[in-house]
Amino acid sequence: TASLNQAARKRNMRFGSAYAWSPPGADAGSFANPDYAALLERDCGILVPENEMKWQAVRPSATTFDFDRFDAMMDYATRQGLAVRGHNLLWHQPKWMPAWERNHDFGPDPKAEGKRLLIEHIRTVMGRYKDRIHSWDVVNEAVSNQDGTLYTTALSDAIGSAEATLDLAFRTAREESPDAQLVYNDYMSWEPDNAEHRAGVLKLLKGFRDRGVPVDVLGVQSHIGIFEDRPVDQLAADYTPEWRDFLDRVTGMGYDLVITELDVRGDALPADVTARDRAMADYAHAYLDVMFAYPQLRDVLVWGMCDKYSWLQNRDPRADGRPKRPCPYDASFRVKPLRGAIADAF
Ligand code: XIL
Repeated sequence: TASLNQAARKRNMRFGSAYAWSPPGADAGSFANPDYAALLERDCGILVPENEMKWQAVRPSATTFDFDRFDAMMDYATRQGLAVRGHNLLWHQPKWMPAWERNHDFGPDPKAEGKRLLIEHIRTVMGRYKDRIHSWDVVNEAVSNQDGTLYTTALSDAIGSAEATLDLAFRTAREESPDAQLVYNDYMSWEPDNAEHRAGVLKLLKGFRDRGVPVDVLGVQSHIGIFEDRPVDQLAADYTPEWRDFLDRVTGMGYDLVITELDVRGDALPADVTARDRAMADYAHAYLDVMFAYPQLRDVLVWGMCDKYSWLQNRDPRADGRPKRPCPYDASFRVKPLRGAIADAF
């Protein structure tokens, strides 16, 4: 079968995946693991670093940067002729900022020091890669899924408000790379318990427009999952109207869409692998059909190609303790129905 990226190209989109750094040959979802690299090279036109561009990774202290790992990942992508997305320039939640940020001495003029730190960060990271990276998650997950409000961090307290901090991040990014695609990325999804989160994201996106903040795209992470013991087509039929309403409002404000981190959980499904894989593939297909109805959708990326290395293995284990199967390839690198569903949806 043709590669997923070739299928995507027919719709003028790209298909891609997250990838990681590891020492050569390590058993990891890394370009340096030949089994994993084969999947990337088979199906992808664009890659995104899973963790290696986050503040913790590239900024071990307020005064130092370390690009060794990401540089190696970038070299690999360049050798393979693959595009790369930037993820991310600011993950605006206290728990995802580096520990040093909480203890940082913002000095006598905290606002000036806060702005300086953020601007320096964005200019340094973007500036280093802007010839190769044209799509950036400038801000990641700034909206609380509990009540739709914006998180605050030590950095945003120093700058004065979360809003001012996010605005500054996007304005700095636009200055640094005027033609780049600037993305606000979040996980609000189509499952019903996301109403507060979606409302908060809409409010943020509206605010960006009102204040003239340069944001081009809503990154729809798409960590979707079956959490109810009902047929997939019923779930999809139930979830679609509210989800469409959300996407209509987002695109109505002039935002494009990118699926940035697709994977599928099947927590409510029985252990049987064949039935589980089929249901998750059908669910993803139904979801993609809704998304593909929007001409504003630009690209589709999954958060990992292979079940073995999925971040979800370490989160909310299944009640029966079985490994999860969220990705297009299984733990033995064999094609799963999810890959077929993605190809078919394109
Ligand atoms: C996750 C990584 O996959 C994990 O390895 C890490 O421990 C935490 O972050 N939304 C995002 C991604 O925007 O950065 C997250 O990645 C997954 C959820």
